[in-house]
Amino acid sequence: MLTVHTVEELRATVADWRRSGERVAFVPTMGNLHRGHLDLMREASARAGRVVTSIFVNPMQFGEGEDFDAYPRTLEQDSEKLRELGVDLLFAPEVTTIYPAGSTEHQTRVEVPGLSDVLCGASRPGHFVGVATVVCKLFNLVQPDLAVFGQKDFQQLMVIRRMAADLAFPIEIVGKETVRENDGLAMSSRNGYLSAQERATAPLLYRTLQETAAAVKGGNRDYASLEKAAEAALQEAGFRPDYYAIRRSEDLAPVQNSGEDLVVLAAAYLGTTRLIDNLRV
Ligand code: PAF
Repeated sequence: MLTVHTVEELRATVADWRRSGERVAFVPTMGNLHRGHLDLMREASARAGRVVTSIFVNPMQFGEGEDFDAYPRTLEQDSEKLRELGVDLLFAPEVTTIYPAGSTEHQTRVEVPGLSDVLCGASRPGHFVGVATVVCKLFNLVQPDLAVFGQKDFQQLMVIRRMAADLAFPIEIVGKETVRENDGLAMSSRNGYLSAQERATAPLLYRTLQETAAAVKGGNRDYASLEKAAEAALQEAGFRPDYYAIRRSEDLAPVQNSGEDLVVLAAAYLGTTRLIDNLRV
């Protein structure tokens, strides 16, 4: 595996592959790789001859008081895992490579109206602008044929799909199913922040989503009551729910008609750790 830190090296390598007609898949990450990420890499390599991944903890998507400084940086261990999987190129830029001005204050921004500012976007103002901006920039740097993202970050996947369509990127966006621990907890780099007691409670988030999805499938259309009951159950178990919402999976808007494809999405704190998860109905 080739590890590069500069845009010049990245572009030169990918350009060589393109000249020989190879298809390039891209998996952007913030590192601290777990089985969920590795699954994305496998999906990428099943779909293209060359796999590029990036590890970049993007300051622009962290709000004030969030865990940018504490976010686990484990480049050496991550590189080992990627090498074992046969990833071709790891792009691990410095912050000043992505944001030459050093700060993101004057950076041109990408905003996806209607999707950036609801649910996680409402609780984390500016988060999805940071995500869309860095992914847009990485797409321009890597110029892949396709890019793979996890469905655990359902809203992020929708933001990126819309951004790619609106800005006419000739890149196929692939969503990959959430990888879970045996007890149902969705894999996330932030699970490592949980204490033993919080870790034991955490799978209840997914179980609650399953119960809600089952109730909706069973014909219950009183979405507001289902959301309220789920939040109460989570609170009772020690979570601090941020939101719990049954939405249209197409655009995350509130449900309007029966027969629409739905998704149940939740974000809740356990201690200081914010967990998110979702389940299609
Ligand atoms: O999902 C992530 O790890 C990040 O939000 C992403 C897509 C790599 C952008 O920084």
